[in-house]
Amino acid sequence: MKIVSRPLLAAALLGAGFAVADPVESCPAASGGVCFNIAVPTSSASANSGNIYFQIKAPTSFQWVALGTGSAMAGSNIFLVYQDGKGNVTLSPRLGQKYAMPTLDTSSTAARLTLLAGSGVSEDGSTMTANVACSNCQTWNGGEMSLKSTGAGWIGAWKKGSSLKTTDKTANIDQHDGHAQFSVDLSRATISSDSNPFTATRSGSGSGSGSGSGSGSGFTETGGFSKPTVLVAHGVIMALVMAVLYPLGSLLMPLVGKWWIHGAWQAVTFCLMWAGFGLGIVAAQEFRMLFTQPHTIFGTVVICLMAIQPVLGLLHHRHFQKTQGRGLISYVHIWWGRILMALGVINGGLGLRLAREDDGPIIAYGVVAGVIYMAYIGFKVCTFFRGNHTVSYKEEANTPPRRLH
Ligand SMILES: *[C@@H]1O[C@H](CO)[C@@H](O)[C@H](O)[C@H]1NC(C)=O
Repeated sequence: MKIVSRPLLAAALLGAGFAVADPVESCPAASGGVCFNIAVPTSSASANSGNIYFQIKAPTSFQWVALGTGSAMAGSNIFLVYQDGKGNVTLSPRLGQKYAMPTLDTSSTAARLTLLAGSGVSEDGSTMTANVACSNCQTWNGGEMSLKSTGAGWIGAWKKGSSLKTTDKTANIDQHDGHAQFSVDLSRATISSDSNPFTATRSGSGSGSGSGSGSGSGFTETGGFSKPTVLVAHGVIMALVMAVLYPLGSLLMPLVGKWWIHGAWQAVTFCLMWAGFGLGIVAAQEFRMLFTQPHTIFGTVVICLMAIQPVLGLLHHRHFQKTQGRGLISYVHIWWGRILMALGVINGGLGLRLAREDDGPIIAYGVVAGVIYMAYIGFKVCTFFRGNHTVSYKEEANTPPRRLH
């Protein structure tokens, strides 16, 4: 019996052209609890049209969650889900735009989405689920996706926050906290019957289901972004640069008295600053805040003005070597640095507020920056009253200086 049925089953599956598997699933770790499932009936796959099914599931601590087809947000077909305030969810088909909120797709090619059984907010209120059928997801305004694709581009995005409580499909949503890009092997997501695969009692399923290549392995995260990674890296690097490394590097000059130690320290800090600036630009683009917020504008100005500081330092150094004393260029170098450092620290405060940080990190930043700058000012005042113009040190063995470098 077994010997006979196996080839028969295999032949049946080959005849259909697709091994029957299960829905594939991905739960992006960075999202903290969002899960997506995708399933394609074998009939839709072989015809490259017809229903596909997907599930979007998230804790109710999320304001909205979205799944979409396409390789980036711009030009993608987005299926947005949020609570309707009545124990169920609102499903809104939208078109992705670059750096703008996706708006409801009202065209004739808009995704035809149906909310299915099993959707809604769980009884304990902790999770929301959307079980969805899409009858025309193989094409949309600006894109297409083969239902047989072994590497279909999908994207996911999410935003934490309180419930929107609306059945309005055009509801305004806040910018996402994070997103992920996926490559989905739809041939591994096949289901035997064209019906909701996400409820315990499946109508019409049975014989063939459950075999095949297994679930979970066809849904691969290929990229993405989450607020913590890029923003935290930007914040930590910039706080270190402006509040710690630059002032310490500035103090190194009178403390150690070797111009090249000061120069090397500040050069490393200068490179770190540009790395932090690059991360800031990535984050600002993600949050559509590039050059639209005081922090991003002001920060860009400070960084660009800081770009000439190494040149001022070298000019000062050349002047010092020639004259063994400070000139106008020296004071420009010193005060240019001091003013920009201070502005950088202030801009860090603006950045923490823009990132809607809690009081804790803002206070910690204020205390650390305050302590370092008080120490810096205190040291400068002390050396001034001790007569810094007569402090002697060896700048270079063969050029005993008379004045502070
Ligand atoms: C949500 O709506 C869908 C579609 O109308 C329905 O099948 C489902 O039972 C609803 N869920 C709840 C919890 O009411």
